[in-house]
Amino acid sequence: MADARTTISLDAMIMADPKVPADLDAWLSKNDQRIFEELNEFLRIPSVSARSDHDGETRRAAAWLHAKFAGIGFATETIPTAGHPVVLAEWRKAPAGAPTILVYGHYDVQPPEPLELWTSPAFGPQVRDGKLFARGSVDDKGQLWIHVKALEAQLAVRGTLPVNVVVIAEGEEEVGSEHLGAFVEQYAARLACDAVVISDSSMFAPGIPSILSSLRGLAYFEISVQGPSSDLHSGMYGGAVVNPAMALARILSTFHDRRGRIAIKGFYDKVTPFPAAVLRGMRRLPFSDARFRREVGVKALGGEAGKTTLEKLWTRPTLEVNGMLSGYTGEGAKTVLPATAMAKVSCRLVPDQRPEAIERLLKAHVRKVAPPGVRVTVQHLHGGRPWRADLSGRVFDAARRALSAAFGREPVVVGEGGSIPVVGDFERVLKAPVLLVGFGLPGENAHAPDEWISVDNVRRGMRAMAMLLDEYVA
Ligand code: BES
Ligand code: ZN
Repeated sequence: MADARTTISLDAMIMADPKVPADLDAWLSKNDQRIFEELNEFLRIPSVSARSDHDGETRRAAAWLHAKFAGIGFATETIPTAGHPVVLAEWRKAPAGAPTILVYGHYDVQPPEPLELWTSPAFGPQVRDGKLFARGSVDDKGQLWIHVKALEAQLAVRGTLPVNVVVIAEGEEEVGSEHLGAFVEQYAARLACDAVVISDSSMFAPGIPSILSSLRGLAYFEISVQGPSSDLHSGMYGGAVVNPAMALARILSTFHDRRGRIAIKGFYDKVTPFPAAVLRGMRRLPFSDARFRREVGVKALGGEAGKTTLEKLWTRPTLEVNGMLSGYTGEGAKTVLPATAMAKVSCRLVPDQRPEAIERLLKAHVRKVAPPGVRVTVQHLHGGRPWRADLSGRVFDAARRALSAAFGREPVVVGEGGSIPVVGDFERVLKAPVLLVGFGLPGENAHAPDEWISVDNVRRGMRAMAMLLDEYVA
């Protein structure tokens, strides 16, 4: 897939030679082959959290990671939850009074289907054209790996770390992090830290390191429509019995107005404007709608009238249908009036919307518009709060310096349309700033066939994240 932002350059921001400390750089270069061999091992484990028939593999990924942290000298525990376990790894030998950094990542991945659209097998990592292809390469095993190796490099070269480090790696991010909020509360004392660092997002464009200033939240629903007690002959019954598929279509068609706004009463009540400086920065980023259209393969874009694409993606809430199921979908024709219909629907949320409130509003809306003759139920599957950072303070300054050194140019500030449910919990429970610094790239195919991470970004990312620890105490 062509990607929208590859050819854009921000030359004015290019700095001289990247300046990574020679000892760290040399160790990472010397160990480069082993680093990628081990990452490939991690990527070969099909830790698909959504699939219960893969639970053994998901656990194997946790055990594999556990062994790696133990191997580099971290006190490591694999802690069971009601779902997949959390790997908690701690290194607390920094000088007295040294700060503590918490690193978070996830070892679970999205299902790889449709398998036939992968050029090489989803769990058979392969490098082509500087890209490492595999499910989980960018989301998030490869990015978590950047931190593991940054820590290993520091320990190998210096024999110590300048800060205490706690790592938590979860196995349920891709299914909504259901048990992690409670985990963070229960283990709050062990997780206490001065800053949280997460790499589970993307850079704005190749060569342009990026710091995230916001994530959207999520509220995910299943809407079920039950009609007659069984499928019916559409000739014998059609016209007199309400068709659940049509009823569902009607309900779905009420969710937006003509201008692309969400027509659920009260939906926008808690939406607060983004700071003017953030919006100004967003407008300065080089972004082309035409390229974006080409990247996704459409002739026209949609959404709310009067908003730019980046505004729509980063600062506005949405309601999308994620899947639909009803009636006959096999080969040929079948004249049937289906008994049921189902849609998966999710809302992306922005500050200060709350998933629980959106659940109430959406349920009230569906009750109001559901036609008679069918029974409609709405189930809330999972949710997460939106997040917005105030990018001032020590960890952000350190990140700017480390990224500048490793990438040879200053980072830009970007927003993001995706969600990482635990980020809000970290901020709320641990009261620590969260630095989101991602190493993916546009077109990386996260959640899709042919997911990849740039090999160069992994290399620079390891250097930047190793330096971050030095810069944090500088
Ligand atoms: N890594 C993504 C989140 C993300 C995507 C951040 C793009 C920044 C840019 C994460 O693994 C993910 O996909 N999250 C899910 C969360 C959901 C299942 C609760 C998402 O956003 O759909
Ligand atoms: Zn992820």
